Amino acid sequence: MKQSIIETLRSEPVDSEIDRLVADRLAERDLLRVITDLRSRFDPELSSAIAETALLRLKARNKFLDPRRMLFDREGLEQASAHRVALHRADRLSESSPGLILDLGCGLGGDAMALTTLAPVVGVDIDPNRIRLAVHNCDVAGGRHGFEPVCGDVLTLAPPKASVVFADPGRRTGRRRLHGLASYLPPVDALIERWRHHTETLAIKVAPGIEDREIPDGSAIEWVSLHGDLREAVIWLGAPGEPGERRATVLPTGASITGPEPDGIPITEIDRYLHEPDPAVVRAGLVRCVAAEIGAAMIDPTIAYLTSGSPSAHPMVTSHRVDEVMPFHLKRLRSRLAELDVGIVNIKKRGSPLTPEELRPRLRLRGSRSATLILTRTSDGPLVAIGLD
Ligand SMILES: C[S@@+](CC[C@H](N)C(=O)[O-])C[C@H]1O[C@@H](n2cnc3c(N)ncnc32)[C@H](O)[C@@H]1O
Repeated sequence: MKQSIIETLRSEPVDSEIDRLVADRLAERDLLRVITDLRSRFDPELSSAIAETALLRLKARNKFLDPRRMLFDREGLEQASAHRVALHRADRLSESSPGLILDLGCGLGGDAMALTTLAPVVGVDIDPNRIRLAVHNCDVAGGRHGFEPVCGDVLTLAPPKASVVFADPGRRTGRRRLHGLASYLPPVDALIERWRHHTETLAIKVAPGIEDREIPDGSAIEWVSLHGDLREAVIWLGAPGEPGERRATVLPTGASITGPEPDGIPITEIDRYLHEPDPAVVRAGLVRCVAAEIGAAMIDPTIAYLTSGSPSAHPMVTSHRVDEVMPFHLKRLRSRLAELDVGIVNIKKRGSPLTPEELRPRLRLRGSRSATLILTRTSDGPLVAIGLD
């Protein structure tokens, strides 16, 4: 976004125009009509920027608590860190008491906004438009510390020395997602080679689907979820990461757990409750750690459901009451749900090839009650647990 457009979008009459479109809940399908209408009062470039900003502020509500004065570009918003997740990262970095933080690939400033609550930040991005947005967004975020922009390539440039370097490489070009750390922009191994020995702590945000074999030697890795959605993984080289550590953090509570997993978690039949671990725990391979914390058993060594006789209030699990368990057989399940007068089902699954979308119509539900169905399997074969609501 050009600097002159940014200045104009910040000005009072234009900002109020954006507020009005946000209040009217501008939708993607209305965009052309609204731009045409705006053109009677503003020039074409500004009209598009006003409408697009209103639309992106509405979309940004799932990432930022208060995107009211923020500015975005579409791809920058898609790639930006959710503010709650960025704050958690800043919180972990606070253990190192950094004097200065480098934010490499700062984009439109999603992370920088959180990092400036902790220390002064130098944000580097190769894209001058993003840099301008980051300056604006850090300004409106009003962090306690300053944000200094640098436009350039993080692999060749020599910004000031900092005790903490955070990098968030691009994981898509246009609409295409980039898979594998070597395909990121810039590639993770190049970032490590360039920065590891110039800082005490190097933290690199990566996709949560990172393969274990890609985790760099000597690093710690943390998977982070927000409201039950697995958002990201972070490779930590240096404090607060311990080499080899695997960590799962569940936001917004901030509950965090690390391995190694304990031995000796029993495997039992399904008891009165099934506990579903948060996806960050499952992805980090720390289900047994949570089982030990809540005093639950596993139902199978390879299935990430836990079981015990009582519900758990632990922030890393969701407990489901189980009224009955039966081997999975479509006709028998259908007639049992009819007997129980079930008409609405919430279907959960782990270790079952069936999807809820495939199963639901085949159940031909007609009753008046609702129930949770949990499709899973144990060494006895596929089974379904029914919990009436
Ligand atoms: C995932 S985005 C960063 C998002 C940011 N952390 C946020 O929360 O808003 C990655 C950024 O890296 C930038 N980038 C890609 N390659 C780069 C390079 N070689 N040097 C500097 N920046 C680069 C892109 O322009 C993009 O803005």
